[in-house]
Amino acid sequence: MTIQTSQTRSAALHSGDSILIVDFGSQVTQLIARRVREAGVYSEIAPFSQAAAAYARMQPKGIILSGSPASVLEDGPRIPDEILASGLPILGICYGQQALMHQLGGEVLLGDSGEFGRAFIEISDRCALFDGLWAEGETHQVWMSHGDKVTRLARGFRPVAASPGAPYAVIANDEARIYAMQFHPEVVHTPDGARLLKNFVRHVCGLAGDWTMAEFRKTKIEEIRAQVGKGRVICGLSGGVDSAVAAVLIHEAIGEQLTCVFVDHGLMRLGEAEQVVSLFRNHYNIPLVHKDVSALFLGGLAGVTDPEAKRKFIGKTFIDVFEEEAKQVGGADFLAQGTLYPDVIESVSFTGGPSVTIKSHHNVGGLPERMNMQLVEPLRELFKDEVRELGRELGLPEVFVGRHPFPGPGLAIRIPGEVTRERCDVLRKADAIYLEEIRNAGLYDAIWQAFAVLLPVKTVGVMGDGRTYDNVCALRAVTSTDGMTADIYPFDAAFLSRVATRIINEVKGINRVVYDYTSKPPGTIEWE
Ligand code: XMP
Repeated sequence: MTIQTSQTRSAALHSGDSILIVDFGSQVTQLIARRVREAGVYSEIAPFSQAAAAYARMQPKGIILSGSPASVLEDGPRIPDEILASGLPILGICYGQQALMHQLGGEVLLGDSGEFGRAFIEISDRCALFDGLWAEGETHQVWMSHGDKVTRLARGFRPVAASPGAPYAVIANDEARIYAMQFHPEVVHTPDGARLLKNFVRHVCGLAGDWTMAEFRKTKIEEIRAQVGKGRVICGLSGGVDSAVAAVLIHEAIGEQLTCVFVDHGLMRLGEAEQVVSLFRNHYNIPLVHKDVSALFLGGLAGVTDPEAKRKFIGKTFIDVFEEEAKQVGGADFLAQGTLYPDVIESVSFTGGPSVTIKSHHNVGGLPERMNMQLVEPLRELFKDEVRELGRELGLPEVFVGRHPFPGPGLAIRIPGEVTRERCDVLRKADAIYLEEIRNAGLYDAIWQAFAVLLPVKTVGVMGDGRTYDNVCALRAVTSTDGMTADIYPFDAAFLSRVATRIINEVKGINRVVYDYTSKPPGTIEWE
């Protein structure tokens, strides 16, 4: 399985009206793809080492060159000659700008200080990127992150904006339709960045901006049919949004050729397993094997307290059960997974070699090889919120689609120490109260993830006139855009005290509630 596979699959469907993004290894390349899609244009990211091949295959209408931790002055990656000779519109971002100047006859020098973070640029001239947005003489906030900088422009280029640290903050060559900027338009800290990128893909590249989720749904259905033919597909449902959306889409494409297997490990939140079963069987009428193996999982977790040991046991057992069930239904030629884009490209090495790291889905990692099945991964090009949008497009209920992310190992990693059925039940009740209060307060969608954790700590309390000696429950709520970094959600004290009172009054086994005030880093979102 390589990234090439998915690109090859999607290429036929999107060739032409697309943008190729050449990844030189920036941390934020994925955000470029996102912004381009928000502008209604299909895009694909190719690592620089595969960019020439991607260009030939995709026949895109424009090219965007990403940033990079490398330096053009120290043998950094080069823009393929085919791309420079293509005559297509090109937008260079940060390193992309430096590489353009370096290769086209300008000059790049090591900046003596560099610029990192917020900066202000002054607009000195008009250019197509600024249409309807920025005018001469104005000052605008952007986000910079560079050490090197362009010190002389290649022929045909003119400066159109400057910052104190970057005299060529934005440059333009209108005839060649090549534009470049030192700052990052793809990040939210460049407030007008999305509109600059939109101007590039719409005005400079001339794309219509009519790529929608409805379009994606249609083309994916054709693609799934072409890939699967008359074969049989099996899909492991984890109870989460991604695998459910993948399954519903695949079912729309191939109907009864799909069998879904829901391995119910008993570590889901309150009512969640029932929700999945009813959604598939009643709402969509999709054949579903519901395997309640909670006894197997909880039995195996008895006495296990080490977080990694818990994770390993759950992952392995999931695969064992899934494999067995797949055999029971008569085997399959294809395995469907809800792999998302961030799982596909994690990082690009700019030193060459195998440059793409691929993460296996936590639930079924290793299975395709073990069972000799090909993968069907219809969500491989999407980000989490795009999957949610597709889910809505497919008619999945909002409460399901908008659900906070939930980890594969479930409640087991929210119960530090030993996991027992009783402790799971206690945690489920506390968690449900917490989430109900969050929904009632209208805060659910403003929070990336909120959950309760049941601590292996007992404290003394007093209820009525009696002494209690019971468990501590910790509440966690974070904001995040991708789960990689996170900040705590600043509830007001009245809200927290309302939740704490309800949990202590309504959940037997908990007599104290605390709020987790740790951001990520240094903490992780989950406790284990
Ligand atoms: P951490 O705890 O690493 O979590 O800050 C980041 C995000 O990943 C989720 N998470 C998982 N998701 N399988 C998953 O599918 C896992 O094993 C797993 N562990 C953590 C976590 O809920 C958060 O959204």
